[in-house]
Amino acid sequence: MKLSAKIERKIRKYAPKGGLDNTTRVLLDLIGMGQPLTLAHSERVGLTTEAVCLKTGKDAKAGLFGGLLHDTGKNTVLNFLFDGRNISAEEYAEVKKHAIAGFTALKRAHLFTAYCAGLHHALYERGYGLTARDFPKNWQPRTVKKVLEIATIIAICDDIDASLHRKTTIKDDSRLSDMPLMKRLETKFPDDHETVKIALEEARKYL
Ligand SMILES: [Fe+2]
Ligand SMILES: [Fe+2]
Repeated sequence: MKLSAKIERKIRKYAPKGGLDNTTRVLLDLIGMGQPLTLAHSERVGLTTEAVCLKTGKDAKAGLFGGLLHDTGKNTVLNFLFDGRNISAEEYAEVKKHAIAGFTALKRAHLFTAYCAGLHHALYERGYGLTARDFPKNWQPRTVKKVLEIATIIAICDDIDASLHRKTTIKDDSRLSDMPLMKRLETKFPDDHETVKIALEEARKYL
């Protein structure tokens, strides 16, 4: 499965340094070979995160690439876990590993994007993955703030996209997975009401 023309245009438009353009193509190609639904999800999360960043004055380039690569670690998770059935607690423990796996795969290629991948399930109660304690000690507070801002937008767009498109019921081990979408978003991201509103508007464009 090839990347969509829209994503190709976005990569060319931003022409990121450090090889992030080809890193993005390679990793998304790999995801698409094993998990075409995860590739489609990654493309939508990249595009909605970019759109939310543009509307809220955040770094759209960081949002696009962070969103596109947030689930890079799913390359390490067996595809049958996403085939449309409920999964067991043991299988869910395997799924959870994708956040750290994505961070590990990306950290030498692009550290900012790696942290977005590592953090995207860790920014709410009973989440998983990296935490703010894992940031490099020499990072400036403004860098930490920016990663947390972008990773939060990715986490919100990720949650919304999964709710709108995923047929699989992946239950997390808290009460959150049983809540209606809006209630869950308010509970997980109580300080990000405006971001949630904009992200919902953007995500609905891909229905
Ligand atoms: Fe994820
Ligand atoms: Fe995701």
